[in-house]
Amino acid sequence: MSCRILVLISGSGTNLQAIIDACKTPDYPGQVVGVLSNKAEAYGLERAANENIPTTTLSHRDFESRAAYDQALMAAIDTYQPNIVVLAGFMRILTPAFVQHYQGQLINIHPSLLPKYQGLNTHQRAIDAGDKEHGVSVHFVTEELDGGPVILQAKVPVFDDDTAQELAARVHEQEHRIYPLVIKWLCQGRLLMRNEQAVLDDVPLPVSGYASDD
Ligand code: GAR
Repeated sequence: MSCRILVLISGSGTNLQAIIDACKTPDYPGQVVGVLSNKAEAYGLERAANENIPTTTLSHRDFESRAAYDQALMAAIDTYQPNIVVLAGFMRILTPAFVQHYQGQLINIHPSLLPKYQGLNTHQRAIDAGDKEHGVSVHFVTEELDGGPVILQAKVPVFDDDTAQELAARVHEQEHRIYPLVIKWLCQGRLLMRNEQAVLDDVPLPVSGYASDD
């Protein structure tokens, strides 16, 4: 049985598109069964509709508290009966109750080489720091914001005259490669979280994930 993937978005959804496209390739072990957004104007919702994937919009503005929103979000997600929940540019801080509910089945993509640059404006921060190297991380979600165990990173060079936009585009290209790969591992049951550590094929991964060179 194919793994049921639920994707949460807030924006353009280029990662969502990469995941949808990967699911169409022969022998990919999963399918996107639903897309949920906290923003009605998110272009990713159109991408999903174009592929006949059901969508739900749940605005955080309609709820009094983060806890109430996350409870409603969990209920909405669970109607899709997903095996895994994938954050793809979902720009919300999640409550511990939410994170615990999906522990080990909830992953995120973050545009930096974690633990560097948690939070926002990662590309500009890498440029401002004079970094020669930047990138993207896919990680399990834990209660610590952008802090869960890294599964896989991809690195890109930072050039002297880069703008944040140019650098973001370079990172995005890598995002679209590594996210479908990690989702595949998770769907295949090869990847899991044990004692707050990512484990692939029964081997605990280093802190920088599978492709770590240390
Ligand atoms: C991606 O760059 C993703 O890494 C980032 O949002 C973008 C969404 O783009 N996520 C975060 O910053 C999470 N902290 P997309 O909507 O085109 O996939």
